[in-house]
Amino acid sequence: MSGMIIAVDGPAASGKGTIARALARHYGLPHLDTGLLYRAVAATVLRDGLDPAVEADAAAACAFNDGLLADPWLRTDDVGKIASVVSAHPQVRAALLERQKRFAGQPGGAVLDGRDIGTVIAPDADAKLFVQATPEVRAERRHLELQKAGLTASLEKVLADIRARDERDSQRADAPMVAAADAALLDTSVLSIEAAVQKAIELVEARR
Ligand code: C5P
Repeated sequence: MSGMIIAVDGPAASGKGTIARALARHYGLPHLDTGLLYRAVAATVLRDGLDPAVEADAAAACAFNDGLLADPWLRTDDVGKIASVVSAHPQVRAALLERQKRFAGQPGGAVLDGRDIGTVIAPDADAKLFVQATPEVRAERRHLELQKAGLTASLEKVLADIRARDERDSQRADAPMVAAADAALLDTSVLSIEAAVQKAIELVEARR
């Protein structure tokens, strides 16, 4: 099927990014990690000394330079936390909307991952997955990543941060994180990466 659009949503460290990349490879589709756009806004806010809680400040940071998207700093938890604050502002979501919709509308199809792909960005996607895992499992994954990167943060702190981010992302009024009514749920809590990817492909095959 040409032009297939696959929407992958879910909370932090659920495995959605890994699954979206694997699906893009499997089907030969371009992939957009939409969280990176919100992270670029957050990084610009931090770099320019703006206040992430002030909507006008966050909106001013939406005109970031595309080169910033390749900066490894964007992947850090500090930037992720601020991304979740700026992403609650309607002006920020509106500023990033067109770019995401354009990516999703490419004639050849696309895979996008984020929080509101199946609900707002690509409501007509051919296949929608909502990837989840328990907060405890997600905290363990993130904790292990941080340890590998030589960073020290207690598991309790990582879990508290994950819970706070879930709460902010799912409680905001504009495009909250929620599974689309027609999304297939994929719980990766007890799955290896390989098994989760296999299951994701099966779910897409069943839906397209
Ligand atoms: O997925 P990632 O952890 O990179 O996303 C960072 C933050 O960006 C999320 O916590 C969320 O607040 C925001 N985000 C969003 N909508 C998306 C993708 C990310 O609000 N489609």
